Amino acid sequence: MTVTAMMKPDLLKWLAERDPSRLQELYERADGVRREHVGDAVHLRGLIEISSHCVRQCMYCGLRQGNRALPRYRMTRDEILDCARHAERLGYGTVVMQAGEDNALTAKWIGDIVRWIKRETSLAVTLSLGERSQSDLKSWRAAGADRYLLRFETSDQDLFRTIHPNRVPDGPDRLTLLRQLKGLGYEAGGGVMVGIPGQSFDSLAQDILTFRELDLDMIGIGPYIAHAATPLGTGALRPAISAGEQVPSNEEMVYKMIALARIICQDANIPSTTALATINKVDGRKRGLRAGANVVMPNLTPVKYRRLYEIYPEKACIDESANDCNQCLRGQILSLGRFAGEGQGGRGAKETLASVLPDPSSRFVQLQAS
Ligand code: 5AD
Ligand code: FES
Repeated sequence: MTVTAMMKPDLLKWLAERDPSRLQELYERADGVRREHVGDAVHLRGLIEISSHCVRQCMYCGLRQGNRALPRYRMTRDEILDCARHAERLGYGTVVMQAGEDNALTAKWIGDIVRWIKRETSLAVTLSLGERSQSDLKSWRAAGADRYLLRFETSDQDLFRTIHPNRVPDGPDRLTLLRQLKGLGYEAGGGVMVGIPGQSFDSLAQDILTFRELDLDMIGIGPYIAHAATPLGTGALRPAISAGEQVPSNEEMVYKMIALARIICQDANIPSTTALATINKVDGRKRGLRAGANVVMPNLTPVKYRRLYEIYPEKACIDESANDCNQCLRGQILSLGRFAGEGQGGRGAKETLASVLPDPSSRFVQLQAS
């Protein structure tokens, strides 16, 4: 069987696999696909958490409107622009502006910021602002936004509805939105949490097939982490599931999902996520990078806001400055024998080490050699 011909029964078999040597085989296979299709560059995407206000009530997320204990913030335009400049100084190719679903982030306000970043820097701009209207998404694309992240969280529609209670009636579902984003010319990023209460192995296999069906440009996969200020986190909400079918929310499940996503969607950009680094603070990020991932997302949010963007508790790197994370991540990347990408790192951009090293005929290199 060729790896790309993997079908649902093969996926299910791998998702249930526990044997360490078989799993090592899977990760190495995914790592090989990663090297062949996207190369050894690890792209750095600077994350700016621009607002923690949210009108939604997602049953797992600490930013849900019902969490009244959480003080909310919204960054100013100048603070966001400072972060973008900082990203460029640190040599990142992309900034990701993420927020809860905050209606005060108007089409014009976001559009103006996107235009400024595209005019003043060489950064790619990724937006991750939730389920927004077609006209908002269209105007941001016209302003120059390159990419949009919207995880569909689970392909099990019943579970999706249970954990996303106050959806806009008759609004498009997230799979439809992802197709529309691609139609608008965005690179589209989807993804899932692993180990959501009520999530079955069968639905997880279906999630991977959905990544392929949508032909996603980016795929974010992280563990579900219980948050005590949410109905799923306290156990007040317990979606029904038969015994043995519940997916655990452990790191091994996440590595398996990253590896299978890489094998099935060979050239997608796949981050080793902060949630993964949160459940294994020692080497979660590195292990994700060795199981098929090729992207990391260092946090650029001003430290004074970090704790307030509490999607889940005990987030990795909560007190580290942007400069510290930059150095730490670059060290991790080099220790894997890989290198930090220097371009925007869009889908299909395969940087080689030679392409990021200075040209040997350049004056800089000649001066260094002399
Ligand atoms: N645990 C893990 N990931 C979470 N997210 C939201 N809440 C949690 C949680 N409790 C993820 C969702 C969302 C992304 C921004 O953060 O997948 O799409
Ligand atoms: Fe933030 Fe290591 S990545 S401290």
